[in-house]
Amino acid sequence: MVDGKTEILGVMGDPIKHTFSPAMQNAGLESLNLNYIYLPFHVKPNGLSQAIEGAKALGIKGLNITIPHKTDVIGLLDEIDSLASMIGAVNTIQFIYEDGDGGNVLTKGYNTDGYGCLRAIEEETSVKNKKVTIAGAGGASKAIAFQIANSEINELSILNRNFNKAESLVDDLKTNLAKLDIDINVDAYEIDCLKRELSDSDVFIDTTPIGMYPNVDDKAIASANLLHEDLVVNDIVYTPMETSLIKEARKANAIVVPGYKMLLYQGISSFEIWLSHEAPIEEMEKALLGALG
Ligand code: ATR
Repeated sequence: MVDGKTEILGVMGDPIKHTFSPAMQNAGLESLNLNYIYLPFHVKPNGLSQAIEGAKALGIKGLNITIPHKTDVIGLLDEIDSLASMIGAVNTIQFIYEDGDGGNVLTKGYNTDGYGCLRAIEEETSVKNKKVTIAGAGGASKAIAFQIANSEINELSILNRNFNKAESLVDDLKTNLAKLDIDINVDAYEIDCLKRELSDSDVFIDTTPIGMYPNVDDKAIASANLLHEDLVVNDIVYTPMETSLIKEARKANAIVVPGYKMLLYQGISSFEIWLSHEAPIEEMEKALLGALG
């Protein structure tokens, strides 16, 4: 029950009505009996700076930041975690109130999206010394590619419709992670490239919106004959849960990681940053699945 001591967490985005985070986060808070509430905040781009200042004034303890604010919010924060800074996007803010609620406020930004994807995959297999292929080179791909490239993998391939965009992502990875000793390839995502890269990959992550509601009849980016039994296949799309790619992966008897798992684990990581407490994964997963329907 909300009372005078209830602390506030939330998510800021535009639009925000579709968010599944309140269901998942509030279930976690309730199950641990924490006197917190997690709320959705509809914040338009021209209101972001005021919203962050307002959050500080209101004593808000933590925020998730979603589309379209993940990049713009960086300039409004005091500190940015090094991975979030390399990715150029923040999805989690921790508000640290020095000397209690009336004192100075320190804001620190993190990016838990790539971590969410990695942890979802690592439920099935460790990526250490493995080859990972990523389709897409947008914002989600960037967060995932940085996290994965930083995880002692052996080889990374990035395939994208727009070749230049994939090349620029790989340049970014090489510049920022110069000390890493991994093979990074870049390719167009044509059928021959997919076939070649997937044949010896251990993990395949599709970060494109192909198959996302309402385009559920989109042809999968890779059909079953390009996939194999030892391949972990993750589609980051979670509406619907059974995307065209996930269906093809099941046909190929591949190891399936559904898209909602990334959403779950990015939320778990945010929860743990704000509360410095292990998150109740089972309860949060159950609530998320319930909200997804
Ligand atoms: P997000 O920030 O959510 O990752 P994004 O930045 O729009 O979204 O990136 C989407 C990625 O999916 C891009 O790499 C895009 O390819 P282009 O760079 O060629 O635009 C890719 N993508 C989107 N729709 C696609 C489609 N129908 N077929 C193949 N790739 C697609």
